[in-house]
Amino acid sequence: MINRETIDKIMETARIEEVVGDFVHLKKRGTSLIGNCPFHGEKTPSFHVSVNKGIYKCFGCGKGGDSVRFVMDHEKYSYPEALKFLANKYNIEVEETVESVQDVEAQNARESLYIVSAFAANFFEDQLWNSSEGKAIGLSYFKERGFREDIIKKFNLGYSPDVWDALTLDAVKNKHAEEYLEKTGLAIRNDKGKLYDRFRGRVMFPIHNFTGRVIGFGGRTLKTDKNVPKYVNSPESDIYHKSNVLYGLFHAKKAIRDLDNCYLVEGYADVLSVHQANIENVVASSGTSLTIEQIRLIGRFTQNVTILYDGDAAGIKASLRGLDMILEEGLNVKVVSFPQGDDPDSYMHKVGAGAFKTYVEENRKDFILYKANILLADAGNDPLKRAGIIRDIVESIAKIPDNIKASVFIRECSSLLQIEERVLLSELNTMRAAKLKKASTPSRSQPSHHPDMPPDNLFDDQASPAGETLVTESKVANDDLQEQEIVRLLLAFGHELVSWDKIDNMYIGSFIMQNLTDVTFENKLCKKIIDHYRIEIENGQLPTANQFIKSQDRDIADLAITLSTSPYSLSENWYNKHNIYVRDETVNLKATILGGLYHLKKRKVDRILLDLLQEIKTETDATNQDILLQRYSFIKNVEREINKFLGSVIVK
Ligand code: CTP
Ligand code: MN
Repeated sequence: MINRETIDKIMETARIEEVVGDFVHLKKRGTSLIGNCPFHGEKTPSFHVSVNKGIYKCFGCGKGGDSVRFVMDHEKYSYPEALKFLANKYNIEVEETVESVQDVEAQNARESLYIVSAFAANFFEDQLWNSSEGKAIGLSYFKERGFREDIIKKFNLGYSPDVWDALTLDAVKNKHAEEYLEKTGLAIRNDKGKLYDRFRGRVMFPIHNFTGRVIGFGGRTLKTDKNVPKYVNSPESDIYHKSNVLYGLFHAKKAIRDLDNCYLVEGYADVLSVHQANIENVVASSGTSLTIEQIRLIGRFTQNVTILYDGDAAGIKASLRGLDMILEEGLNVKVVSFPQGDDPDSYMHKVGAGAFKTYVEENRKDFILYKANILLADAGNDPLKRAGIIRDIVESIAKIPDNIKASVFIRECSSLLQIEERVLLSELNTMRAAKLKKASTPSRSQPSHHPDMPPDNLFDDQASPAGETLVTESKVANDDLQEQEIVRLLLAFGHELVSWDKIDNMYIGSFIMQNLTDVTFENKLCKKIIDHYRIEIENGQLPTANQFIKSQDRDIADLAITLSTSPYSLSENWYNKHNIYVRDETVNLKATILGGLYHLKKRKVDRILLDLLQEIKTETDATNQDILLQRYSFIKNVEREINKFLGSVIVK
């Protein structure tokens, strides 16, 4: 177990914007930071980070929490794993008390895979620099290809000896379990049950995840024999998921963010050469065709991708469609293609760093125009083919979520394709409409009080004279919204000192609690929070929002986070409905608090009235009926008082 002091220290140190910022491209908006949610696919940001509160909240998918929760959810870490990750990030020493056997085992499973991978990386590196075979074959190969020592070291390149079990023997000698050698794919078991090395006689490219831990390897053969595969790669494992990994990202991420652009190349060698030329914002998809996860990974750091292509026309055409995916994610895509037969690595060696940079600058084309040009050249004068191209191009443009950007491309393509803008636009709209229709399944958890949605009928009685209408069943389905609003007010304003009318210098928290003595909460979570709040106040403590936000009870923490970050509140709705447009509810705090309290009370009263009505209907005894009717009219009066009060607050 990690001890309390360490946890507190981590909590104090780990700033939410820094922790989240490592994974999400955040922009400032008002007092909070926003970005695209990393937990669900989205193109318009609904992921909010509150620096003051130290929490994040996505209004699209509902996920929210503090720094630790973010790391847990994002990296699929356990609580202690997340704490250790943060401790590592901030160089905090972790003090642990003795752990149970299960703890150790659970954590160790994944951890062991990391450890054996790091061991292997070290082993290969050591072989490259210190063994005679490694130096003579591996190191001299890298040097022949023009890689400098500092780059070879920076990327932890290595060499695997050309024997059956060099790594396996050394790993086992160093007490690494065979199980983990197998699970990482570093070793393979043969028919006779004996382990042998996957990588033999190859130069080794360790693959780091973006926090810098080794998770897999690519090994390149040095033989020219056509029967030997050029690359052997680690298989998928619990720590290595190819579709989620970009080679070089760990070394590139800072530059990508600083320069707000990411170069995308195909191979390991390309990354190394480009990086070596001081263009450090470069990553590779490493052989696999680009995946949506990889695109989103880039999207955490920048919205701008520049693809550096090998100069072979067939390859380019094959990949064009895949690139639409990048557009769909809302990223801006530029393309540079190299002369026939060259990839970024070979071109770099041919012309040198200076000329390479110039070439990239001068040949950078916007993807859509680039695509249009390639297809046009391909179609020649064939009118049918040309018509096909138009569809194809407009299809790409239709994928761009930003309308303004899309219309710029329409204009440019109109002149390039020599087709009236109007025609392209109508084609675009047809495609968009079709897409919308396809996507019009009901969306996930919308915030319940989005101002664009019709207000619910909660307070319709207000509209009719003095609330004389009888309450109907449907209106009193449940009191969740009103109860949550009270909790929200407690969390947001509980610590404000106020003096209103007869009360003098009182905390809003205490004021609200005093006014709730006759109210029973029905929503279980709200009740838990309210009960806790009451007990604390009775003990002379005024609870803070943080107490609930950081609650060990995940449901409570979730609700507290949702409520304390919710931009849509009941009272705002209430203001809107009565045409008093007060953006800032703190302007009239009294109305806000009293409004919340009285709406809840009205709700409770309505419920009592409804029950009474039911009783009256079923009561057959005349005297009893009379008693019930009297009670009904008494409570109806209370309701009128409440309505009157709400009316008076509203007009203020
Ligand atoms: N690749 C692979 N398996 C192969 C061939 C390629 O995994 N049999 C992946 C590697 O990640 C490689 C990338 O695809 O880096 C690009 O392939 P290629 O251009 O053939 O390799 P380069 O990295 O350019 O290698 P080199 O320049 O050393 O020939
Ligand atoms: Mn190459």
